[in-house]
This record gives sequence, C-alpha cells and structure tokens, in this order.
Amino acid sequence: MIDRSTINRILDAADITEVIGDFLTLRKRGMNYWACCPFHGEKTPSFSVSPSKGIYKCFGCGAAGNAVRFVMEHEHMTYVEALKYLARKYNIEVRERELTPEEQTANNNRESMMILSSFAQDWFSEQLWTHPDGQAIGLSYFYERGFTGKTIRKFQLGYSLDKRSAFSDAALKAGYKKEFLVSTGLSIEKDDKLIDRFWGRVMFPIHSLSGRVIAFGARTLRQDKSVAKYLNSPESEIYSKTSVLYGIFQAKNTIIRSQKCYLVEGYTDVISMHQAGIENAVASSGTSLTTEQIRLIKRFTPNVTVLYDGDAAGIKASLRGIDMLLEEGMNVKVALFPDGEDPDSFARKHSNTEFETFLKENEKDFISFKTKLLSDDAKNDPIRRAELIKDVVSSIGAIPDAITRTVYVKECSRLMDIGEEVLLSEVAKFRHAKLYNSRPHTPAKTPEETPKTAAPPEITDPSLYFEKAEEEIMYYLLKYGMRHLFTVTHDEQEHAVSVAEYITGELLNDEMELKNPLYRQLFDEYRQLTGESDEERIKYFINHPNRALSEQAIHILSDLPPLTVQHYANSQEPETLRLPRIIPKAILVYKARSVKASADEVLQRLQEAQAANSQEEVNTLSGQFLLLQKNSKRLAGELKRLIF
Ligand code: CTP
Ligand code: MN
Repeated sequence: MIDRSTINRILDAADITEVIGDFLTLRKRGMNYWACCPFHGEKTPSFSVSPSKGIYKCFGCGAAGNAVRFVMEHEHMTYVEALKYLARKYNIEVRERELTPEEQTANNNRESMMILSSFAQDWFSEQLWTHPDGQAIGLSYFYERGFTGKTIRKFQLGYSLDKRSAFSDAALKAGYKKEFLVSTGLSIEKDDKLIDRFWGRVMFPIHSLSGRVIAFGARTLRQDKSVAKYLNSPESEIYSKTSVLYGIFQAKNTIIRSQKCYLVEGYTDVISMHQAGIENAVASSGTSLTTEQIRLIKRFTPNVTVLYDGDAAGIKASLRGIDMLLEEGMNVKVALFPDGEDPDSFARKHSNTEFETFLKENEKDFISFKTKLLSDDAKNDPIRRAELIKDVVSSIGAIPDAITRTVYVKECSRLMDIGEEVLLSEVAKFRHAKLYNSRPHTPAKTPEETPKTAAPPEITDPSLYFEKAEEEIMYYLLKYGMRHLFTVTHDEQEHAVSVAEYITGELLNDEMELKNPLYRQLFDEYRQLTGESDEERIKYFINHPNRALSEQAIHILSDLPPLTVQHYANSQEPETLRLPRIIPKAILVYKARSVKASADEVLQRLQEAQAANSQEEVNTLSGQFLLLQKNSKRLAGELKRLIF
C-alpha cells in the first residue's frame, strides 16, 4: 500500500504536460496544449491538456483524466503501477503505508505461499525433465499431444510422481513450513502427516497477471472414468479461481497489441493456440465466466471472441456467460469449431495459417449468432418463439451503448422477422425493469480497491434519472461544498450551515436516493472525506482511480452546460453570492422531479393492475399514487413560489 501522503506528493509533482509530453507531441494553443488523441484514431488534434487544471480531455472520444490516469490508459498499467512510474520519473521515494501487524502477517503469509508455489512449480518441472518416471510418463505424454519442448517450458509444465508424499517430503526437507504446504493446498494433513494433493498427474501451473505461480491444475493420465480428469488447487489466500484467467500472463502483451482476446475452455486449448502462433488466448478454467474475469480482459481490450467446440448443448449452456460480456460493454464475437473439434484438436490437425484463416472466416457477431441458433429451434412454435424474443431482448438489453443496441434491434428484427418497434419497445421495457430492480447498494469502496474498469453506468433517458437535476446538485456540492451557505438559529443558538451540510441534510432527511450510480458514489464518498477545503476535495475526485467517477467529476466542473436553476435567477451577481437562493431551488427541482417520476411509475403499475383485475393491488397502488400526487403538487407549488 502506498500511503496517502506519498500519493499526494506524486500527484503534486506530476506535471501533466511533462508526463503526456513523454508520449505525445504537444502544441500550445491558447491556455492549453493540443495533440492527436492516442486513444482513438484521428487526423486533427482534439486532445487537449490543461496545465492549470492538471487534466487532459479529448473532445473526440471523451477520454479524460489526470496524469495518473493517462499513464494507466496509455501504458496499460494499474493504478499502483502508474503511481510508481511517476514516482520514479520525479525521484519521489515511494513510502508504502505502514501495515498493521495483522496486514503484515497476512502479507507475509501470502508471500510465503507464493514462494512455496514457485518452489513446487520448479520441483514438478524438474521431475518432468529429469526423473525417469517424469520423462517416461509425463514428458512423453506432452510430446504425444504435440507440445514442443519450448511450449512445455513456456508454460512451466511439470509432473507429480506417483507416490503419496514425494513432494511434501521434498518441500519439508527444503525448509518449507507445514502451515503453508497446507494453506496452498499442495499438501493435505492426515494423521499428523502430510500427503500430496497431486500425484501421478501432469501439472499445469496457474500464473497471476504478473507471472507468479499461485495454483495448479493437474491432469490424470489414466483412462479410468472414476478418477477426476483434472484436480485443481483449492481456493486460498493467493488463489481465487473466479478472478483468475489461465494464460493471461503469457497472453497479455499480444492481447494489447492485437486488441483482441480469444476465450477458450481449457488449459490445453490455451497452450495449443500459443503453439499455433495465436498468443492472445485465455481460459476461464473450470468455472463459468465471472464479471471479475471479464474486467481483467477489459483492462487490455474490449474485443473478445469466444471459441466453442461444435456441440450445441454446450453452447446453449454458456449463452448466459456471454450476456455478461455484453453487460460489461465488450464487443463479443463467437467462432464455432466443426463437430467434435476443440481449439486444441483443431490446432493439431491444421497448420498455423489454416488456423488463423479459420478463425477469421468463422468469427460471427454474437447476437446474430445467438438469434440464428435459437430461431432454428423455434421456427413455428409460438411459445418457443416468445421465449426466443425474450432471450434475444435480454442480450440486446445488456449492451450499455444505446447506438449499438439500435443496430442490433435492426439486425435481429430482420433475422427473426419481427417488427423493429416491437423489439425496440421490448428492449426498452427490459432495461427499465433492470434499472429499477437492480440497484445494489454496496458500500463505497476505498479508491485503491475500486476496479479501474468499473463500467460507467450510462444514461439513456435523462428524464428517467432526472440526470440534470442530480447533476446540478452534484455541481454545487463539488464546487462549493465547504462554503458557508447560511446561518440558522435554533434554541437561541446560531448554527453555521455549509453547502455540503445543507445538501446532505436535504437528501438524507427525505430518504432521497440519487438515481445515477456514479453520483451516488460521489455523494457517499464526499461525506466520508476529511479534507477541509473544496480544492482538496475536488482534487480527490479528479484524481479518483475509478475512471468513470473522475471523468464525471471533470465533466461537472469543467463543461457543464448552463444550469437550469440558474436560468430562473435573472441576476448578474456572481454565482457565489447567489448560492443561498439557487441551491434550495436546485434541491426542490430535484425532489419535485423525483416524486413525479415515482408517481408516473406507480400510475403505470396501477393501470396494469386494473387491466389484470387484481383488486388488492389496485387498492394499494391507488393509495400510493394519491400520496405521491399530493406531494408532487405540493413541491410544484413550492417551486413556483420560489421562482416567482
Ligand atoms: N476442468 C476442470 N476439472 C475437470 C474437468 C475440466 O477443472 N474435472 C477444466 C479444465 O480447466 C479443463 C477445462 O475444464 O482444461 C476443459 O475440460 P476438458 O475439455 O475436459 O479438458 P481439456 O483441457 O481439453 O483436456 P484434454 O484435452 O487433455 O482432455
Ligand atoms: Mn481437450
């Protein structure tokens, strides 16, 4: 952990024009510097760097951030890596935060487990290459599969002897502690003795992103169906199978260079593809795809091609995993192998060029692929057809980008022979339901934890989010939160109320919840900040490691269109003097819109309940509706009085 004060020193030292100037040629025009944007292809410069604000912003693609963000994006580094890079550039000694004794122990434990895992990998490899059994059984198996010596070394494959405790004995003898042998799962404790988890198997070490061994997959060489084909390390402090991708360490550079990632099923598929010269393949080994794994890929590229072996049942089972890729905003393609083939077997039977050509020619857009796949099933069966539409709608609805959705609606309406409007309205309904029903209220994460790629929630219909009204409130909070707003007298005592206190009080007292998740995070974190000045707080958000949040903060502070509430205030006096009048107005506007939206929603449900003749629901809903309507009128009235 880098401590906060070191981070601040790095941020202060990092001169944005210098940092970016190391990568781009900047030209000064007016107050800012300009260049062609490195994040999207362009011929005329729309990428601006503002030395005074310490930020960059591209008016073409919208990329924005501070010096750290630039290094992260441009060099594909994590937050901490980027900080360390800047620290080196500016000769700042990186003082890692002092760890608590518990953290220290946990860290030491993790380190010990990784050192042991690396020892184990070495040992298994040594057995493979030098032990007579390793050579006769393990190595010859890999050779028979067509792996070359180079490939076997590249993936650090190994062999575990067919003895109950050969590895445990060797590790203990080399001085490794029993504790870590057990916690890594390499050994199992039985009657006070250690026995090996893996024996008589070929070993596939699993690497972390930075290339350290954190676990193993082990394949049996027996044909016996009662023996599990693969045995894997258990979950441990260093290995979480849902967040690791097999092969990511070996693949990441090629993924970045080619801007594409192939997703395959197993260890051997990854390895065979590498050997066939396709080095951007990873596998989710043994689990269905998770969001964490997707975000890991997304750090390097948004383009994924899922490779399937030609078995229809398997494909249908994994369709859901693919919807998750869409939800994360990935561009998803699929390629289907001929019946009975997987990437591994295909690679063995074909030359590298044939393999590449096959992938190029057989890659299909996922949604069209899914639609066709399911359409064949549904044909003339109306019930299955209805299911088909629901299925396709859920895939299209998962895509965050509105334009992309429209394109798919067109395409799929053609494929399924269904009217575009029908499909469009189904997609809209699906998204509406999703937005209202899934608002996970997770506590704000600390900046370091927030994944850099947290998907920016996107806003399609502003009235749905009262985006504008929320944005105005966030603007006042961010820009003027620490300022004195007014003084109230209570119990004969005077209390000073700051802008932040007023806004927080108004929102929390009425249990108003901001609809835009980014603003919710901003609001939650703002309240936990301890910095005394607006400048410090603004810096915190502009430099926020959650890219979406920092971009939003920059947007709020730098290029907000004229605020609606200010339209009402026909005055030339400076904004700061008007705050006591315009902020309460902004809050009122927000509340009025929020209540109005709730009322509209209840009204719609009421009409549906009436149509469905469910009397009980009608009664509850009408009660709710009347209440909301009353509130809505009251707020509208107050607003009028305030404005005129
Ligand atoms: N897998 C697993 N545990 C099992 C079976 C499979 O963890 N009991 C995972 C492994 O990551 C494996 C992947 O699922 O690589 C795909 O399984 P499979 O196709 O059976 O294995 P292959 O890797 O293709 O192995 P092989 O070609 O040697 O049969
Ligand atoms: Mn296989």
